[in-house]
Amino acid sequence: MLQLSHLRVAYGDKTIIEDLSASDLNPGQLIALLGPNGSGKSTLLKAVAGLIPVRKGSVVLDGRDLTRASFEARAEHVVYLPQTLPAATHLRVFESVLVAANASRLGGRATEAEIERVNEVLERIGIAHLALRSLGHLSGGQRQLVGLAQALIRRPRLLLLDEPLSALDLNFQFHVMDLLRQETQQHQMITIVVLHDLNVALRHTDRTLLLRSGNLVANGAPLDVITPESLASVYGVCARVEHCSRGRPLIMLDGLVQSVH
Ligand SMILES: Nc1ncnc2c1ncn2[C@@H]1O[C@H](COP(=O)(O)OP(=O)(O)OP(=O)(O)O)[C@@H](O)[C@H]1O
Ligand SMILES: [Mg+2]
Repeated sequence: MLQLSHLRVAYGDKTIIEDLSASDLNPGQLIALLGPNGSGKSTLLKAVAGLIPVRKGSVVLDGRDLTRASFEARAEHVVYLPQTLPAATHLRVFESVLVAANASRLGGRATEAEIERVNEVLERIGIAHLALRSLGHLSGGQRQLVGLAQALIRRPRLLLLDEPLSALDLNFQFHVMDLLRQETQQHQMITIVVLHDLNVALRHTDRTLLLRSGNLVANGAPLDVITPESLASVYGVCARVEHCSRGRPLIMLDGLVQSVH
């Protein structure tokens, strides 16, 4: 279980997150982290991953405070995929995922089992045909899928993905969210995924965290969090949550708060 308690995160003397707490983040849950541009989503993920210091508070994973853990211990249990795409290096796709699989141990030859796991992850994501291509010769979306493969191969306790769908087409967006849910349940991970498409959050996630100006304004079931009221107050939009002919909830946008009378 993951528990964030009274987190304060700042860049220099600029405080972004003042006092953020979140509980009930349980293994097997795919959790959406939502909020407007600049609300602190990436800052929160980086702080939880230990990439920027937590000034106050704790990040407790399975009873252990990660803010006091060594870099190696954190790296073993937490994987963070940044918002930026993996660099376009000369490394081949297969090699880059194998390097990620071995990230927590130094040197040594790859085992048969590791090679098998790389093949399996590439297959599951749907990019096995790119295995021998160099990262520098891939499209943006293809590189984003390689980044996901590098994250998933580690099978951490806590998986933090910052806008992993931003470069993906509709088919891959659905496929990746489906795969994340399966992997999260099967391996009892806690997966937090930053999203801007609230319909994706409604369709695919188990829980939703909503940030506004560094404050967690809601933490609950997607349909309880994504409401006309929260969309108006957090995003400044007038919107309805309707149900389609198959009964699935969908957000319909009517306009911006100030332009609707
Ligand atoms: N390295 C930095 N130094 C100083 N301020 C920063 C730094 N990185 C981000 N910020 C500021 O922190 C605030 C939160 O930024 P953050 O990147 O966490 O937002 P976000 O919710 O991820 O936004 P987006 O949806 O645009 O990715 C913003 O006001 C941003 O300008
Ligand atoms: Mg961000």
